[in-house]
Amino acid sequence: MLERKFLFAPGPVLTDKRVKEAALAPDLCHRRPSFEHVYGEVRKKLIRLFRATEEEYTTVVVSGSGTSSNETVLSSVVGDGKKVLLITNGVFGNRLKDIIECYHLGLNLLEFEWGTSPDLGRIETALKNDQDISLISMVFQETSTGMVNPVHEVGDLAVKYNKMYHVDAISAIGGEEVNVVRDHIDFCTGVPNKAVAGQPGVSFICINKNAYKKIENTVPPRNVYLNLQHHVREAEKHNQTPNTPSVVMFITLNKALDVLFEEGQEEVIARYKKDAEIIRQGVRDLHLKMLLSDEHTMSNTVTSVFLPEDKNIDTFISTMEERGYVLYLGKGPLLEQNMFQIANMGQIYPQDCKDFLKIMKEVLA
Ligand SMILES: Cc1ncc(COP(=O)(O)O)c(C=O)c1O
Repeated sequence: MLERKFLFAPGPVLTDKRVKEAALAPDLCHRRPSFEHVYGEVRKKLIRLFRATEEEYTTVVVSGSGTSSNETVLSSVVGDGKKVLLITNGVFGNRLKDIIECYHLGLNLLEFEWGTSPDLGRIETALKNDQDISLISMVFQETSTGMVNPVHEVGDLAVKYNKMYHVDAISAIGGEEVNVVRDHIDFCTGVPNKAVAGQPGVSFICINKNAYKKIENTVPPRNVYLNLQHHVREAEKHNQTPNTPSVVMFITLNKALDVLFEEGQEEVIARYKKDAEIIRQGVRDLHLKMLLSDEHTMSNTVTSVFLPEDKNIDTFISTMEERGYVLYLGKGPLLEQNMFQIANMGQIYPQDCKDFLKIMKEVLA
């Protein structure tokens, strides 16, 4: 029997009962109007989620986790002989690099130390000096550290140098102020199973129509399942998908978006901010060190914390789980420094954070 735990991890997250119940909808044939109706509703709601307009943007849902949407964008929008300017400062920026390398795309790589904000001067110099760059790519919230990157400032540079702009907002959408219009984002990816508080299994992309026009017929297809042009054509023509979609996950995503809009996008963000403040104050009270110190770059949903050197991190994480709270181990070099992460995404409320801190205090003692 699976036991209910508090998921203080950056996805999957606790979901509303109505989202789970939505999965009990009648079985649908995906090639009939009943499915097209659901997909049409989801696509409209995603426009709202990304603060876009239907005149300027379109959306698609890909049956696959967040990586599949990033791969759909990166494999489909960079022309032969062109390059991606990739800005990375953590695990998930590096994952974008893996995709770019797998497809043998041109790459101009700007790496920054994990937990430090990308330097805009270096980004501008790269844009000035490398005429082959056609796309800038960056993660919105680098989940491996909890840092929010300068998405708007890089968007301004994309406009200044006339480049397309891809932002991986997988852990940001629903939890940060993601606004594709304000930030000049052409391709923005997200998932339901993090700050949107839905179920895992699909991911989605918000696409600027002008940028899309430029690449629709000029970039050769490099794969079958993850071809952006194929997804957009089917969606725009009749709210359809190129292949058999994960039907139930489209239905639960539709419900998760309703639940989110019912609380209100700003209200959800405000709740996440409040949760994070409570958690961070509790962490300070316990004299634990955090990875990030600048409030302006700390996200609303992920807090990276170092466990004292004399404590075993695996024992700590499993004891917390026995007490009902699922936390996340840090990654790579940060795990070597005994770092773990506390996330407050999904159906987590201030009182849950206070209860969690009480248990963490007991476990640390
Ligand atoms: C910023 C970011 N990008 C990409 C991914 C990969 O997403 P998925 O595991 O859904 O493929 C994650 C997962 O946590 C993420 O946080």
